[in-house]
Amino acid sequence: MKILGIETSCDETAASVVENGNLVLSSVVASSMNIHKKYGGIVPEEAAREQLRAIAPVISEALFSVELSWKDIDVIAVTVGPGLLGSLLIGVETSRTISYIMKKPIIPINHLHGHIYACWLKESIKAKIKLPELPAVVLLVSGGHTELVLMEDHGKYKFLGGTRDDAAGEAFDKSARLLGLTYPGGPEISRMAKLHSGKSTMSLPRPIINDNLYDFSFSGLKTAVLREVQRRKFLDNQFKIDLAYELQEAITDVLVIKTLKAINDFSPKSVLVVGGVSANECLRKKMEREVNERFSNIDLFIPPVKYCTDNGAYIASCAFYNQRVKPWQEISANPGLEF
Ligand code: KG4
Ligand code: ZN
Repeated sequence: MKILGIETSCDETAASVVENGNLVLSSVVASSMNIHKKYGGIVPEEAAREQLRAIAPVISEALFSVELSWKDIDVIAVTVGPGLLGSLLIGVETSRTISYIMKKPIIPINHLHGHIYACWLKESIKAKIKLPELPAVVLLVSGGHTELVLMEDHGKYKFLGGTRDDAAGEAFDKSARLLGLTYPGGPEISRMAKLHSGKSTMSLPRPIINDNLYDFSFSGLKTAVLREVQRRKFLDNQFKIDLAYELQEAITDVLVIKTLKAINDFSPKSVLVVGGVSANECLRKKMEREVNERFSNIDLFIPPVKYCTDNGAYIASCAFYNQRVKPWQEISANPGLEF
């Protein structure tokens, strides 16, 4: 079964064809990030306008660059939420139109569930990848969400905890802005932190790290960064490097400790770390070290970096494992959709 996955929840316009839930035949992503960079964050109207400009060429490339035609596609999967309404509408209305004209069924996908399926993707038919066994503890860390979930089966989730205020990605983005770094802040903080010698010269809080719950809170961290910034007249490069390093250490410490707690409490077969922030090298290394050292019988999955951030492939894979088909008349965008 070949599924065309369409993702337009924020500033990426993405389309991908995935066969039988795993094999990525094509994955095309266009981003309007460069337009938003000069504003220091996403401008929703600009994002929607760029989605409209990009959607037809991106879908065409996902099909025709690998010599597929519409008759090869069995189902369309589309992100219906959460996200920016203007952006979501472009993907949703495009999918409805294709569905009506080409007589293809649609599977609506929750973007947050989609991220998880980055762990099910492979790029070559010969690649022998191990697929996650369930139940799995899932840490979803993206720009707007930080959630710990127990995935009992496909489509069956138990919510363990989430952020009470800012998401981990927001903590990176907002702190980077305070340091005068460009948007998105996560990759910038990571780049600065790599220049650090490795010994912290500053101390930032690890909010609610030992509270015995699965909740997160990152807004205090952002305030602590603001205080450090305000104490200085001039932000020299060494200060930015020190702060970026300590901030990354603080955020990743909290994410790892809470995930370890969930593993201890639920003894899953796998642990999945997904969402844009899972591209962070420090988080990947820390999580690998801690999970592998403590739990030799549990497999850790962190997708290749290109599938951590938004793409159409995980949307198509999610649809394969959750085949709840709907007629095009019943598909609509839902910006506030929850996990
Ligand atoms: O999942 P995603 O691409 O979009 C949403 O669904 O939100 O996540 C975007 C977030 C941004 O906050 C960005 O700063 C963060 O992922 N991010 C990173 C890295 N790459 C992207 N954070 C830390 N380190 C990175 N290397
Ligand atoms: Zn996302």
